[in-house]
Amino acid sequence: MLVKELWRAFFFVCSLQFWRMALLWTFSILFSYYQLFKASLSQSQLFKPLIPENCPLFSYKLVSYPRCSPFTSSFRPVCVVTGATSGLGLAAAFELSKEGYVVVIVGRSQQLLLETIRKIKDQNEDAHLKAFQVDLSSIESVIKFKMSLQQWLLDSELHCSIQILINNAGILATSSRVTADGYDQMIGTNYIGAFALTKLLLPLLKSSPVSSNIVNVTSFTHRVVTDMQVDEGTVSGKRFLRSIRYPFADIYEYSKLCLILFSYELHRQLCLMGKSHQICVTLADPGVVQTNLMREVPRVLSWLAFCVLKRLRLLKSPECGVDSIIDAALAPLGTSRAYFFGGKGRTINPSAVSQNAKLARELWESTNNLLSITPLGAEGNDW
Ligand SMILES: NC(=O)c1ccc[n+]([C@@H]2O[C@H](COP(=O)([O-])OP(=O)(O)OC[C@H]3O[C@@H](n4cnc5c(N)ncnc54)[C@H](OP(=O)(O)O)[C@@H]3O)[C@@H](O)[C@H]2O)c1
Repeated sequence: MLVKELWRAFFFVCSLQFWRMALLWTFSILFSYYQLFKASLSQSQLFKPLIPENCPLFSYKLVSYPRCSPFTSSFRPVCVVTGATSGLGLAAAFELSKEGYVVVIVGRSQQLLLETIRKIKDQNEDAHLKAFQVDLSSIESVIKFKMSLQQWLLDSELHCSIQILINNAGILATSSRVTADGYDQMIGTNYIGAFALTKLLLPLLKSSPVSSNIVNVTSFTHRVVTDMQVDEGTVSGKRFLRSIRYPFADIYEYSKLCLILFSYELHRQLCLMGKSHQICVTLADPGVVQTNLMREVPRVLSWLAFCVLKRLRLLKSPECGVDSIIDAALAPLGTSRAYFFGGKGRTINPSAVSQNAKLARELWESTNNLLSITPLGAEGNDW
């Protein structure tokens, strides 16, 4: 068993994908911290006099936002967290339960959902929780979830709306798998699932009596993508399935970039509908966090990676990494498009490619076309 695992690790290290992760992902996270550092330096009273006026190296302005809660005495807000059975999703569900939200926890395993409820209740016995078993990589399962959630809201004494949707569920798959709808499993879960769920839950977000917030959990790894295709073959991941060696690092980065482009285009569409003053679309990048995300990477390598990252002071616990997600979830109105990173309400800029409006529109169209032939197409166009 040990020998087999070591062989697997050896082959993994010999792949280009491993080096892409080891080198380019490290540069990407360092670049994100560099942005924070640059901004804090330019704002520090101590260093301000030393920095030349209009110096492009230090002209970056850090924007941070306070947290606020949509509480009124008349109703209890509802928050939906996907991938809430582990890591960051679990930490986010716990934090929001402490804020007084009714937290709808979404996960694909019934047993893990029950364990999650127990874990949160152990630390916060007043938590209001409701679990739904959903496979986000299946359009049928997402549609069923929307119907069950709506019915549950109608049957409960809650207002029939949701105030926060956190699209957190995600995987880093190291081998190629196909979803029931024929998409690549990683793109299907990380991007298409979030797109479909947001589309279906939009009416519930729109009917909120207070402003609502959609948070897409993305990653610094999106910075590695410099050239992007948004044809249906790429968006569905079918193009990658034909590769001899599954380019898992490329696909993970791509799926996270898609989430950012999707968020920007969704914000634009909400502006066109005149709803942008009511629904915020924000992005959260937790940094490098010790969770189960690397479960498919040979254990000896993920252990080594965590040791090195800890030494470099780049590794966070889920309780700490969740800060950017909670900052985004509780961000005030007018923060749409903000990219939360580093906690304390701080934001930075995502990559230039992710801010390409034309690309975002094309991705939106490709994804809608792709989904039009699934049962989601029959659900009508709620965008
Ligand atoms: N950890 C990091 O360093 C890091 C950095 C940047 C961004 N992120 C992002 O943060 C998010 C959370 O990841 P994590 O680090 O907390 O990883 P994690 O511990 O592996 O948690 C992922 C969660 O997503 C759920 N999930 C996976 N596939 C699903 C599906 N088809 N349907 C429903 N739920 C599904 C998992 O459920 P099961 O337990 O049943 O598999 C689990 O609850 C991901 O989007 C990830 O890309 C993480």
